[in-house]
Amino acid sequence: MRNWRDRLPEELDFMRAGRLPQKSSNESMTGKVCLITGATSGVGYVTALRLAEAGAEIVFIARSKEKAEQLSRELQELTGTPPVYYLADFTDLEQVRKTAHAILGEHPKIDVLINNAGVHMTTRQLTTEGHETAFCVNHLASFTMTVLLLKRMVDSAPSRILQVNSEGHRFNGLRLDDLNWERRPYRGLKGYGASKTAQLMTVWELNELLSGSGVSINAVHPGAVKSNIGHNNGWMYNAYSKGLIQPLLKKTEISGEAIYYLASSKEMDHVSGKFFNLTNEEIPAKHARDRKLGKELFQKTKVLTGLENQKYYEI
Ligand SMILES: NC(=O)c1ccc[n+]([C@@H]2O[C@H](COP(=O)([O-])OP(=O)(O)OC[C@H]3O[C@@H](n4cnc5c(N)ncnc54)[C@H](OP(=O)(O)O)[C@@H]3O)[C@@H](O)[C@H]2O)c1
Repeated sequence: MRNWRDRLPEELDFMRAGRLPQKSSNESMTGKVCLITGATSGVGYVTALRLAEAGAEIVFIARSKEKAEQLSRELQELTGTPPVYYLADFTDLEQVRKTAHAILGEHPKIDVLINNAGVHMTTRQLTTEGHETAFCVNHLASFTMTVLLLKRMVDSAPSRILQVNSEGHRFNGLRLDDLNWERRPYRGLKGYGASKTAQLMTVWELNELLSGSGVSINAVHPGAVKSNIGHNNGWMYNAYSKGLIQPLLKKTEISGEAIYYLASSKEMDHVSGKFFNLTNEEIPAKHARDRKLGKELFQKTKVLTGLENQKYYEI
């Protein structure tokens, strides 16, 4: 007999997917080059350690040299080999573009790209290029990195792209006529929702573009876990987060295991264009499945990132 969770409307599919047992992988990652953004903290940090432990060659991008050096030491201690890292602040798309080109010059093969760096802003702050910060870091930067590395991912096929997304996409907030929140008051959760919706919509478009290339692209909600997200929002937010939110959250290790599964498991070999709640596929919010809007957003994002004339790849 089907229980009540199987009969939930699709808007509540996250309740069903969130209760399913998690899958795991023991595949070796020896010889695989894994590029990960935002590896200096939280979800990205445990993911980098998990992949390195399984033999992967880690390349990471960080904004803080001090944190990058610390992570390098830890990875070297774990594996005996120092990782390669690049410094880039994702609020500056020129730095993202330069880093992507540097990576192209130095890494002939990338097996897994994990776009994980992300922020949650409680106030509207514009980057020096004039983008709302969460939209820039969570969507524009991951779009830029992915599109510039796309041909390399195709040349490295079979390869995988993972967008570390969020159930937060359900907060929505995406308005094509107001990506910068000039026409309405900024709300942190809506701003986060807009950026994660945009990042998710890009998955469907790139999945279509990559069809037959041997490159998969999927999105993952990495669980509700204890990380440093939001800690840039001042002492009041931090006190609220530490006192009320963090006690309800799980350990980041569940995120690392889930991303490891998605990055390595043979079961994921031909799976692309999906949204996962940890390791279980889930139906994303309806607004994020609006392909007409997604295509318009894709075109707009190309312009905003200076990639309107970018040739993606040829199979
Ligand atoms: N934690 C959760 O419950 C949760 C739930 C759903 C989705 N997520 C997603 O998981 C991903 C990782 O977040 P987290 O929870 O692990 O948060 P976190 O602990 O704050 O880690 C975020 C990472 O992104 C980096 N980053 C932030 N702003 C950056 C910028 N301007 N330029 C370059 N790198 C930047 C951070 O660098 P620093 O170390 O220098 O700060 C850090 O390495 C995000 O995409 C987030 O939206 C998290």
